[in-house]
Amino acid sequence: MHIKYQLISLHLTRLRCSKVDKNTILEAGGREQRSSSGGAKKAPDFMAPRPVPHAGGMFPALVLLLLLAAAAAVVLPPLVSAAVSYDHKALIIEGRRRILISGSIHYPRSIPEMWPDLIQKAKDGGLDVIQTYVFWNGHEPSPGKYYFDGRYDLVRFIKLVQQAGLYVHLRIGPYICAEWNFGGFPVWLKYVPGIAFRTDNEPFKAAMQNFTEKIVSMMKSEGLFEWQGGPIILSQIENEFGPLEYDQGEPAKAYAAWAAKMAVDLDTGVPWVMCKEDDAPDPVINTCNGFYCDYFSPNQPYKPSMWTEAWTAWFTGFGGPVPHRPVEDLAFAVAKFIQKGGSFVNYYMYHGGTNFDRTAGGPFIATSYDYDAPIDEYGLLRQPKWGHLKDLHKVIKLCEPALVSGDPVVTSLGSYQESHVFRSSSGDCAAFLANYDTASYARVAFNGLHYGLPPWSISILPDCKTTIYNTARIGAQTSLIKMDSVGGFSWLSYNEETNSIDEETFATDGLLEQVNVTRDFTDYLWYTTYVSIDPDEQFLLNGHYPMLTVMSAGHSLHVLINGQLTGTVYGSVDNPKLTYTGNVKLRAGSNTISILSVSVGLPNVGEHFETWNAGVLGPVTLNGLNEGRRDLTWQTWSYRIGMRGETLNLHTLSGSSSVEWQKASHNQPLTWYKAFFNAPDGSEPLALDMSSMGKGQVWINGQSIGRYWPGYKAYGNCSECNYRGTYDEKKCQTNCGESSQKWYHVPRSWLNPTGNLMVVFEEWGGDPAGISVVKRSVGSVCADVSEWQPSMSNWHTRDYGKPKVRLFCSPGQNITAIKFASFGTPQGVCGSFSEGSCHAHKSYDAFEKDCLGEQRCSVTVSPEVFGGDPCPGTTKRIAVEVICG
Ligand code: GAL
Repeated sequence: MHIKYQLISLHLTRLRCSKVDKNTILEAGGREQRSSSGGAKKAPDFMAPRPVPHAGGMFPALVLLLLLAAAAAVVLPPLVSAAVSYDHKALIIEGRRRILISGSIHYPRSIPEMWPDLIQKAKDGGLDVIQTYVFWNGHEPSPGKYYFDGRYDLVRFIKLVQQAGLYVHLRIGPYICAEWNFGGFPVWLKYVPGIAFRTDNEPFKAAMQNFTEKIVSMMKSEGLFEWQGGPIILSQIENEFGPLEYDQGEPAKAYAAWAAKMAVDLDTGVPWVMCKEDDAPDPVINTCNGFYCDYFSPNQPYKPSMWTEAWTAWFTGFGGPVPHRPVEDLAFAVAKFIQKGGSFVNYYMYHGGTNFDRTAGGPFIATSYDYDAPIDEYGLLRQPKWGHLKDLHKVIKLCEPALVSGDPVVTSLGSYQESHVFRSSSGDCAAFLANYDTASYARVAFNGLHYGLPPWSISILPDCKTTIYNTARIGAQTSLIKMDSVGGFSWLSYNEETNSIDEETFATDGLLEQVNVTRDFTDYLWYTTYVSIDPDEQFLLNGHYPMLTVMSAGHSLHVLINGQLTGTVYGSVDNPKLTYTGNVKLRAGSNTISILSVSVGLPNVGEHFETWNAGVLGPVTLNGLNEGRRDLTWQTWSYRIGMRGETLNLHTLSGSSSVEWQKASHNQPLTWYKAFFNAPDGSEPLALDMSSMGKGQVWINGQSIGRYWPGYKAYGNCSECNYRGTYDEKKCQTNCGESSQKWYHVPRSWLNPTGNLMVVFEEWGGDPAGISVVKRSVGSVCADVSEWQPSMSNWHTRDYGKPKVRLFCSPGQNITAIKFASFGTPQGVCGSFSEGSCHAHKSYDAFEKDCLGEQRCSVTVSPEVFGGDPCPGTTKRIAVEVICG
């Protein structure tokens, strides 16, 4: 199948292009030789190759082509694939089936100054591919007005990936979900007449096609597709449409088929995928997303098994705990997918990053999109996650020749144990030995030898003999991260106007939906009305004030009576709707009721989320008046869009100079604060510790750090976490009862050496005196390695020797002290190791000699290194913690 397919692909190329693109052929030998611009090359106008259906389904023309191709094979030069193609086993690039390891890094979730380092760390972690969505609402903020600068410089990002020698999987969407505001759709799209999103709707399809074409033609003109010498090997259209299609029937089916055809007709020369879309029509590949994907098979036998989202953990919502996924389980899931025959794995996310500004989806998606990813939000390696996966990728690469050769032979080795063996005709053999038991260690016989398998783990034997990796045995180091405060601020304050009526208000009868009014240019919308109270009202005499009830579609609101804040309510990720009820101190005569409705990110997922509402839709009622109940819903309401401070651009230097600020004294709600500060020395990533604050937004030098909401405490179950057994996003959570997010990333390159302006808008009355800048750094690193740890260090020489402890601090740091070292039976975990009953007295010596003062070091795990065997007959480990500084 594979050979036939390539011949056809080549033949079609020749039939349709009068000239074969010489550059493409010349470059087919290796990635390193490519030009990075690609601009000088001529784009061949061939179609993306289509996989050959089974012979039974072949129509005569295709059979003829096959015969022609077979004949041509005799005379053609050695096979060169001009485009990326695929067969049932894998993607085929430059004529080779590839096992590809990919990771999601979303370019607008970091800043261009961080991109080279993130990409390099991804490469060092063993990735072949960087996957990103394309963020439509960032690129087309108003219809036809495009933006591709700064964090949205897509071409620059892709070229950096190319310079690092990696490939790109471009998920154009343009629906992307991604916990990104409105799922990536520009809000103006909702107001295109007659539109309905993601269905067989002409206005929607026209807009979607327009943007998709825009991106594809941009990529072509920049020479970024693989056949042009560029890095893009794969694209995606739509995102997880399958579940919607299932619910919505015919129009959805027609739309999915249209989307696939529209994409394929764009002739990108690389395959398209549709993730979670069982109906993806040929030649589009349907792919799997999930915590595990070993159950998955593509919808045709001639498509490869691809996992486009291997979730490295999960996102955080304000009010929710922070999810973590143990790397032992993630590695197990990946090994399980590869042993089943999978050939493409993408970590979602490999670097999650930050939802700067108001880009977080919603409602209630937090500003941090850290995702417990192998590279943390700030760009530091998350260890041991990054390192244990790096080791996995190395082993998978060693197995690649056997893995791409065919399907595995699966044999049972026990009730919960199996082997998967791959062999190539040239003698390569790779084996995966799996123990699915969640509780027990297993000892299995395989090829005449015995192997020990920890529970819920897979051992990998790239020669079918030697275990050099087990998913549950971590050889990589663990890092302990420090957040060191480097000082607070001296604040000035400015009270936001709570009299919400001014020349910018407009009035109408009844309550308006929030996004229809704000078009999402701001989170804030004031709803104001007047209530006249008769001096005869009983409550004025007896003090039993009337009850105000406000029903809102979300997401948060403040109630002010005659300018005084009397209540705040907010919804949750599970239910954005909310109701305020409270007794309100009205006075005789005219009273102002102002409701400040606050949105916290537009929805990014769900059926026709473009029709979902936010804001105060009512009813709004007063109970306990002489007349009983008064319905305020249909009376006249005045509307003001946004805060006065937003109109004044208080977050910028010039805007902030346009008003009088006072020395901040007592903490009030709805207050702006500003302070100037100098950049902390050093190069560590920075964050703001906002734990003393309630809810609001923060800017530095005019750049939006994002929404903050440490006042929202995480509700959920943070009980213990064990890597064994099926993972889901609720399994290993932290921060219960604490702020969902207290640290907010400040990219260093947004700072000047001195005189940086920080502006905060605080809704709740938090205390800015508690805000501090913190430096994030690796405080210490640990390793905990058994003398029997599988080792791949000397794989190529087949001289396995003893395992090694490898320790390294961040660039710019050195190992300044050995905090703990014990070879024997040490206890505890990184940060709190202690000696066990067996301890080699010279445990520290080797580390003091080889590690002190170094940025990195390695020490062999063997009794003689630590002055002799302290307890013969006992299996020993070395546990070590060194300080980085
Ligand atoms: C997937 C979706 C991604 C992201 C993820 C959760 O279903 O495709 O875009 O939303 O869930 O983080």
